[in-house]
Amino acid sequence: MSEPMGEPAIEPALTPPLTPGQIRGRRQWPLPKQADPAAPLLQVRNLQTYFKLGSGWVKAVDDVSFGLTDGEALGLVGESGCGKTTTALSLVRLLPTNGRIRGGSVELFGIDLVAKSDLALQRYRWREISIIFQGAMNALNPVIQVRRQIAEPIRYRLGQSEAASQKRAEELLDLVGIPSRRLGAYPHELSGGMRQRAMIAMALACDPAIVIGDEPTTALDAMVQAQILQLLEQLRRELGLSLILITHDLSVVAETCDRVLVMYAGRVAEEGPVARVFTEPRHPYTRKLLGAFPNIRSDRRTLETIPGEPPNLLNPPPGCRFAPRCPQVMPVCTEVVPPEAVFADGVRVACHLYETPVHETPA
Ligand SMILES: Nc1ncnc2c1ncn2[C@@H]1O[C@H](COP(=O)(O)OP(=O)(O)OP(=O)(O)O)[C@@H](O)[C@H]1O
Ligand code: SF4
Ligand SMILES: [Mg+2]
Repeated sequence: MSEPMGEPAIEPALTPPLTPGQIRGRRQWPLPKQADPAAPLLQVRNLQTYFKLGSGWVKAVDDVSFGLTDGEALGLVGESGCGKTTTALSLVRLLPTNGRIRGGSVELFGIDLVAKSDLALQRYRWREISIIFQGAMNALNPVIQVRRQIAEPIRYRLGQSEAASQKRAEELLDLVGIPSRRLGAYPHELSGGMRQRAMIAMALACDPAIVIGDEPTTALDAMVQAQILQLLEQLRRELGLSLILITHDLSVVAETCDRVLVMYAGRVAEEGPVARVFTEPRHPYTRKLLGAFPNIRSDRRTLETIPGEPPNLLNPPPGCRFAPRCPQVMPVCTEVVPPEAVFADGVRVACHLYETPVHETPA
């Protein structure tokens, strides 16, 4: 058995990002037949994904809307169980068997994927939207060489020849920094960081427009985590990928993402440019979340905690789901679902503190 590999050194300079026009122009495959070339890359509207249990429906994602443009990186954050993974899996309906999309739409290039049959959706999984899961060891097949695992989707989903798919797999492994002498390795022969690189190569195999990273670096040490994130950032710029990054690490979102979507108990609390949301959080939950996150300058003893628990999504409270924990709760909050207020700087907030629909300046 070979020794696990070390990580290549961090490369300092990043290439400038591609423009949206360049990104659509560099696609290896034509847009899907029903695509509207003028439509946004991804537009999710009022998505509802529930899980059926004996005792009722778990409202894991309830009326969630957001968009993603070409080459953009969106961070998805919020406490454990708030619906981040379910939102991501709903995009290509890779849900557990008791999961159902009960409403809303997921438009990719203007095509509603929710309306597609499972068979028709195959065209979009991995070819348009791919997912890098946490913990590559569980996602990779332990008895198949990594190169073969990457070549397989190229062969079967894109209908390439055996030789062409092997060659493409080698190119991809090179792209993610796995040296050619490691091409024949099995997953257990690679270090954790190298395995996560292999997962990234697999996610890129069919040249997707959108890559979703569901806590892609959680199991790695801080140095390797930084290297993998830098690789993702470099690939995003070079290949014009759009990225949805799910993480509990707000500093990763601050460094990597253009926009951030803060979820609470299956709903959007706040969404907007990272630079605005992180410097001037408006939703009481976003403020608490940021206050609870350690940064290099903070003293861990003075970090805030968020008292209480998120609600049970089998039977969430009416009105605002954050009300039982909110320091600014008002009578209306426990009765009426807060409408979304949109601010002039591109931030939207679902909270009764901001009643007027369009705000020129933050309240
Ligand atoms: N198969 C399932 N059946 C029933 N409930 C489920 C199922 N999968 C997830 N849930 C519930 O749906 C809600 C959202 O789960 P999800 O995994 O999307 O959260 P998350 O934000 O990704 O959490 P984490 O940060 O822990 O990964 C949670 O309340 C969870 O318990
Ligand atoms: S709607 Fe009310 S309870 Fe909910 S976050 Fe805003 S102020 Fe707090
Ligand atoms: Mg999750």
